[in-house]
Amino acid sequence: MRLFLDTADIDEIREINRWGVLSGVTTNPSLVAKEGQDPDQVWKEILTEVDGDISLETTELEADPMYEEGKRLAGMAPNAVVKVPMTPAGLETGKRLGADGIRVNVTLVFTPAQALLAAEIGAYCVSPFLGRLDDIAADGMKALRDICELYAAQGYVTNVLAASLRHPMHVVEAGLLGADIATMPYDVFTKLVKHPLTDIGLEKFLADWRKLRDGDTQQP
Ligand code: E4P
Repeated sequence: MRLFLDTADIDEIREINRWGVLSGVTTNPSLVAKEGQDPDQVWKEILTEVDGDISLETTELEADPMYEEGKRLAGMAPNAVVKVPMTPAGLETGKRLGADGIRVNVTLVFTPAQALLAAEIGAYCVSPFLGRLDDIAADGMKALRDICELYAAQGYVTNVLAASLRHPMHVVEAGLLGADIATMPYDVFTKLVKHPLTDIGLEKFLADWRKLRDGDTQQP
């Protein structure tokens, strides 16, 4: 499973990218707005920093302007992926962009029925939002499971990009279900690496090493 960061913060992206495990970045209008800078500048930095898929989201609502916007976003760099919303205009736009050879991410997906439509337009990936379903007392993981099963049953090649992940177990469970990609915020990414036994173990190893180095080991 490929791991993506869900952020537009270049410092967060640079830090995780140094780990050697980052395969892409997803952004959305809220995340870009949070940076308070020229969106093109924000996107350009990310597109240059990460050697992987970078999702840039359209903001137009009608199909024609959304298509023009998508073409412009795709032209920013070869690793740009154009995000369109799960709406009739988004589907129409996604289909047209795909016919131009542009990779499309259909976003704001909450049901297998919506995911079916994304696959049928030949989207490069579909983004089910797990956490937002959990937030309204629905079952985000069940939606993801159904989407993965549906895609496997039908042989769809559209990548399942598990999104709106809130904690490490969301990421692990998405992987177990067969999601192709998991995108998560910086704080979830950093939690993936942590375990108290790792910290305790390392502390003990280093304490023993220091004793040896300082020559005060107790020989029986
Ligand atoms: C994915 O592409 C979205 O940007 C994201 O995962 C939304 O997550 P949120 O529900 O935490 O805002």
